Amino acid sequence: MIILRTVNDVRQFVARERGRQASVGLVPTMGALHEGHLSLVEKAVAGNDVTIVSVFVNPTQFNNPEDLATYPRKEEDDFRLLAEAGATAVFAPSVEEMYPGGPEAQPVHTFELGTAAEVMEGKYRPGHFQGVAQVVSLLFRIVEPDRAYFGEKDFQQIAVIRNMIKSEGINVEIVACPIKRAGDGLALSSRNALLTPAQRSIAPSIHAALKESVEFSRTHSIRQTHDYVVDRINAVEGLEVEYFEIVDARTLQKIDEWEESPWIVGCITVYCGKVRLIDNMAYRLPD
Ligand code: PAF
Repeated sequence: MIILRTVNDVRQFVARERGRQASVGLVPTMGALHEGHLSLVEKAVAGNDVTIVSVFVNPTQFNNPEDLATYPRKEEDDFRLLAEAGATAVFAPSVEEMYPGGPEAQPVHTFELGTAAEVMEGKYRPGHFQGVAQVVSLLFRIVEPDRAYFGEKDFQQIAVIRNMIKSEGINVEIVACPIKRAGDGLALSSRNALLTPAQRSIAPSIHAALKESVEFSRTHSIRQTHDYVVDRINAVEGLEVEYFEIVDARTLQKIDEWEESPWIVGCITVYCGKVRLIDNMAYRLPD
């Protein structure tokens, strides 16, 4: 596996591969890789001649400096895991390489991300999606991949990125990949590494509540299902729901009745101590 540190190195590498008609898959990550990321890499390797994985903790998508400072970083382990998973190259740039002169020195550009970016994460993490759009569009412009792979744990992020490529006129296929879970149901996340053993033992209650609520939802309203999940999770000492919204999976807007959409997802964010965990659950799937 080749380690690329600069934008020029990536451009040269991709130009060489394109010269031999290779298809290129990109897996954007912020490192601290787990099985969830590796499942994206596996898909990319299976679907493309060349797989590039970016490892970059993007400062512009953090609205909380403490969150950025404590975000886990494990470059050596990441590179080993990526080599084992069959990635062709890893792009691990510095902040200066991605944002010459620093993020503040970049030209101001407001991305058109649609109403999907205004709710949930957009509401609770102001500026977050602008930062995600900034780095993902930059990566797309550097790598020019045929396909890019994202995990459905960040369900809203995928919708926002789809809106971003449309408004920016970027031609790339977005491949959404299913959530990977630990044996006890906890959605895999780099942030899980920040949980104490006691927190790790209560965190699976998030998925448990969501899963139980699917059965509950068959005989209850959206409001009742919403309250069931929130009450069940908040009853666990150490867990606190920040938001839980049951939304149309295409628009990410809240709905009031199950009949309103053929594709309905519940998106949740829960604080486990200071660690912010997100998850989601489908209540209705299109045929
Ligand atoms: O999902 C993530 O890890 C990040 O938001 C992404 C897409 C790599 C952009 O920094």
